[in-house]
Amino acid sequence: MSVHLEDTRKVTTHRLIEMKRRGEKISMLTAYDYSMASIIDQAGMDVILVGDSASNVMAGNVTTLPITLDQMIYHGKSVVKAVKRAFVLVDLPFGTYQGNSKEALASAIRVMKETHADGIKLEGGAEVKESIERILCAGIPVMGHLGLTPQSINKFGTYTVRAKEEREAAKLIEDAHLLEEIGCFGIVLEKIPAKLAAQVASELTIPMIGIGAGGGVDGQVLVMHDMLGINKGFSPRFLRRYADLYDVIHGAVQSYIRDVKSADFPNESEQY
Ligand code: KIV
Repeated sequence: MSVHLEDTRKVTTHRLIEMKRRGEKISMLTAYDYSMASIIDQAGMDVILVGDSASNVMAGNVTTLPITLDQMIYHGKSVVKAVKRAFVLVDLPFGTYQGNSKEALASAIRVMKETHADGIKLEGGAEVKESIERILCAGIPVMGHLGLTPQSINKFGTYTVRAKEEREAAKLIEDAHLLEEIGCFGIVLEKIPAKLAAQVASELTIPMIGIGAGGGVDGQVLVMHDMLGINKGFSPRFLRRYADLYDVIHGAVQSYIRDVKSADFPNESEQY
């Protein structure tokens, strides 16, 4: 089935908020390079996130913490060059916005100037309010990220479901309202109970995009490598796999090795 191919208008923050108002679910997926971003955009994705999950899936780090602003800008530039329709968001990496709001603004401006992305995403609520306000004052669209915030993994100590207890749930609701009030155009809700996510989505007018947050939110986001089955070892309950690319690529590479070793490749028609 082709999706949205007849609607080639660029996705904007205004259109995303309108989609929520109409009850149209928002599709969002990560991408980190030109070729994959091109396929994902042409397939009709609404939002492409240049996530700091690049630290894991592209650079092989255990957490998202080591990735740098320069590295995120490199990935962002590659993705933006490929995209015509989707809204492109770039994650501000760990350590580039939490310290002070001036540094946060400088980081966001670098992302926007050097990648030509449409907006930035960052993690946290009240703790990063000043940083978000300063970035918004410069006219840069900001998406928040609450619940499981992987940049704080050393504080949490685990990637299990967040906000199961009343106090943490109350803080999440408060933070979500705060992010809407100060002007964020949307929020990613990661790995929180579906009931809580649905409640937040119903209380707010900006879109809530869930990952492991159930179906009561306004859209869904997944990491591309996970949903395409490139990461074989990662199988959380929330993940639906749409392909088994690990097996496809592994098999193709083994066939190529076999053909080279047996001198079957190249044949008569594959040479000059
Ligand atoms: O970096 C990322 O891929 C993300 C998604 C998990 C939402 O932030």
